[in-house]
Amino acid sequence: MIQFSKEQIYIVTGASSGIGEAVAILLNELGATVIAIARNEERLNAMKEKCKYPENVHIEIKDLTEDIDGLPKYVKSLKEKYGKFSGMAYCAGLGELKPFQLVQYESLKNLFDINYFAPIFLIKGFVDRRNNIGNGCSIVAISSISALCSDKGHTSYSASKAALCASAKAIAHEVSSIGIRINCVLPSNIKTPMTAIGGEGYEDSQKSLYPFGFGEPDDVANLVIFLLSNKSKFISGQNYVVDSGGVR
Ligand SMILES: NC(=O)c1ccc[n+]([C@@H]2O[C@H](COP(=O)([O-])OP(=O)(O)OC[C@H]3O[C@@H](n4cnc5c(N)ncnc54)[C@H](OP(=O)(O)O)[C@@H]3O)[C@@H](O)[C@H]2O)c1
Repeated sequence: MIQFSKEQIYIVTGASSGIGEAVAILLNELGATVIAIARNEERLNAMKEKCKYPENVHIEIKDLTEDIDGLPKYVKSLKEKYGKFSGMAYCAGLGELKPFQLVQYESLKNLFDINYFAPIFLIKGFVDRRNNIGNGCSIVAISSISALCSDKGHTSYSASKAALCASAKAIAHEVSSIGIRINCVLPSNIKTPMTAIGGEGYEDSQKSLYPFGFGEPDDVANLVIFLLSNKSKFISGQNYVVDSGGVR
């Protein structure tokens, strides 16, 4: 059984909703201390109220795209406030479904800010030896099945997620010498506010692609927890697809 102690401190971004919320709640239930990051204070507080040990959840309101260059310093400031980190789950992100002819440089850049640049610069801060416990540290970044199987309207989204997987692999090679692992999780459709945008009938329309329908946030969170834990200590630099055996 996977268990953490409250001395193990994990950063969870996107903790106010969907997959990040599920990861934060489960990590907390298993005993870890969670630094829960997002912009929406009300939703972060609602997540905290659902936690088994709310005293071990610390909320940090932050727009991760407002000063991307400053994110390593931000991680340092969190370390000074809470202590050295054992891991991080980067679950913040935005989706985009846009025909190629409508893609603008500005919107492409905005998507890359939250889906690629922010995780890269947060990870840069995290892997600084002064901010983590060293051996046993684990980072999980939520990418997407779209990184591997692009579709119409996914020019920007797929690229941002594929870039994250590619960089994570390179970073995994660089940080293994200091005992840090990093892996990506690539979900298909999961029932969160992101997929709710598809509206009624969206899940049914995708049935031929995903035999078990859409997943629950916990279906992703369970894998994230395993990858953060010591049970996966021999695994790094990998991409894990969570798509119910979809045909893409
Ligand atoms: N749901 C799916 O089907 C699916 C499939 C594949 C991959 N994914 C990926 O999984 C991740 C989580 O998605 P989800 O479905 O859980 O979406 P979600 O419910 O919409 O949650 C997105 C999270 O990202 C945070 N966020 C967005 N912009 C931010 C910013 N500028 N600064 C800080 N936080 C920000 C949001 O918090 P605030 O609004 O409070 O800031 C929210 O907590 C994303 O990377 C997504 O691409 C999702």
